[in-house]
Parts: sequence; structure tokens; C-alpha cells
Amino acid sequence: MSELRNFDRMFRLDGKVALITGGSRGLGLHTATAFLLAGAKKVFITARQAGGPQGIDQAVEKLNALPRIQGSAVGVAANVSNEGEIVRLVEHVRKEEGKLDLLVANAGATWGSKFEDAPDQSSVKILDLNVRGVFLLAQKFAPLLEAAGTRQDPSRIILVSSTAGINVPHVGESGTIMYSVSKAAAHHLARNLAIELGPRNITTNTVAPGFFPSKLANGLIEKLGGREELDDANPRKRLGEPEDIAGVMVYLCSPAGNYINGNDISVDGGMVLSSGRYSKL
Ligand SMILES: NC(=O)c1ccc[n+]([C@@H]2O[C@H](COP(=O)([O-])OP(=O)(O)OC[C@H]3O[C@@H](n4cnc5c(N)ncnc54)[C@H](OP(=O)(O)O)[C@@H]3O)[C@@H](O)[C@H]2O)c1
Repeated sequence: MSELRNFDRMFRLDGKVALITGGSRGLGLHTATAFLLAGAKKVFITARQAGGPQGIDQAVEKLNALPRIQGSAVGVAANVSNEGEIVRLVEHVRKEEGKLDLLVANAGATWGSKFEDAPDQSSVKILDLNVRGVFLLAQKFAPLLEAAGTRQDPSRIILVSSTAGINVPHVGESGTIMYSVSKAAAHHLARNLAIELGPRNITTNTVAPGFFPSKLANGLIEKLGGREELDDANPRKRLGEPEDIAGVMVYLCSPAGNYINGNDISVDGGMVLSSGRYSKL
């Protein structure tokens, strides 16, 4: 037998303060839900839109109605491709909590079109949110993350990238070249942050999802032949589900993920590797 310290808390987030960008729906909302269910004390969610059926307010209401949670969700509207708004967000968290344990940079933008048709503005929007904004979030939140981390229990930064940052998923009619480039940059940004911030008791890792039904992905899922066809093409015969994101996020942010730094984890059923086909022989 070996002495495993606090094994019963291995996948818990009790007492943690988290901030999730793009937390009002999709993968960000799955993450916020998981953090609260795992015991987090406070989960800040941010997005641009406060009201309406896709806004932060309805998400906060649903999160705070989760059964048996100890903590709470707080919504702060902010555009995280804008430096001034990121500084305002940091100030909000500093005033309310004075520290931040978990930063999930999840908000992202995409663009699909023929190579010839992509306007320059689409590249600006993608790179500003998916790369420049993520760098700024890490830079401006670093002091609050440092205030929370210890050698034994570091603070965590998780960048939500995409398997599009590893392979070349879509060219042609609905090409996503600059999105793919921005996600590759996010992978390398995480590796750089891991080395820069590791000594300050902050780890950085990347989660790279494959297809999960969401507002961002549904249009492309339809263009590529629909849910059934994409289910069938995947080695696990299905697309991603909320629990798949919840599990990897809790793992990376809990004591179980303490010593993981500078890695990327694809959450895609193995799809990113599957250039081969099942043989009919
Ligand atoms: N779903 C997939 O299949 C998939 C696959 C690979 C990677 N990803 C990545 O996963 C992340 C989340 O995607 P999702 O599918 O969950 O998308 P989603 O359902 O469309 O949600 C996007 C979230 O980001 C927010 N957001 C967008 N622009 C923002 C900005 N400038 N500032 C602050 N918040 C902003 C949105 O709220 P507002 O519009 O109100 O701002 C919303 O909360 C993205 O980085 C995406 O690239 C998704």
C-alpha cells in the first residue's frame, strides 16, 4: 500500500474561485456547471450579452438553481477581445474575491468561407478573441492567480482550443483556415505560459475539443452532412457530450491535475488521429 494523501478530495474543487469566459452557453456553461457540482465556491461567467435566451443572466439563474451546490455563479458582461474590458473584469474579481484559482479561456470565434471570400475583418475578429485576448487574460489575471496558487496546489489556466489547432479540418467551400491557425497559436501560447508562469505556481494546459453540438458548431455540423454522418465518422461513433468536457475540466483543475503543465488534451473520441478508415475486408 502507498500513502495517497487526500484521495477523497482528488477530483474536488471545494473552496475554489473560477472564471470562465464564454460561460453563458455551450462548452463554457458545461464547465461552469461541473465546477459548481465539484464544490467550487464561486464561478464567475462572462460573455458579451447579459439578457436574452442566450445571455449570462439566464445562465446564472440556471447555475444557482443546481441542486446541492455550496457555491454560487456570478455573471459579469465583458468582451474578452478588448483590453479595457479585461482589465475591468480583473478589477471586479479582485474586489469580490482578491484571488482567482481557475481561469478558463473558453470564448472563441470562428469563420467559415471559401479562401477567396474571407474578409480581413474575419481574421482580425478571430485572432483578437482566440489569441490576443487569451494572452491578455493570462497577463492581467496573473497576479490574482499567483495570489491563490501554492507549490502543492497551483492555480490553473485552461485554454479551450480545438482539434482544428492540430489538424487541417476544413478547406474549400466552408474553409476555417484562420480559425485553425488561431487554435494552433493557442496550443503554443499554453506551452509558453506553462514555462513562464509555472514558477509562480500557475499551470497552463489546453483542452482541444472535437465536435460538440453548440451555437458555434451547429452550422458546420449541418454543412458537413449532419449529426448522424459525423457520429458515424468518429472512432467512438458519437460527437462530444457535456459530460466529456465536464470530466476533463474537473480533472485538470482538481488536485488530480496538479502536476500537469503545458499539455494539450484532445477530447474528440480519437477523431483527430483517424485519417485511416475501417477496412471492409
Ligand atoms: N462546439 C464545438 O464543436 C467546438 C469544437 C472545438 C472547439 N470549440 C471551442 O470551444 C469554445 C466554446 O465554443 P462553443 O461551441 O461552446 O460556442 P458557443 O456555444 O457559441 O459559446 C460561445 C460563448 O463565447 C461567448 N463569446 C463570444 N465572443 C465573445 C467575446 N468577444 N467576449 C466574451 N465572450 C464571448 C458567447 O457569448 P456572447 O455571444 O454573448 O458573447 C458564448 O458564451 C470556443 O473557443 C470554440 O472555438 C468548440
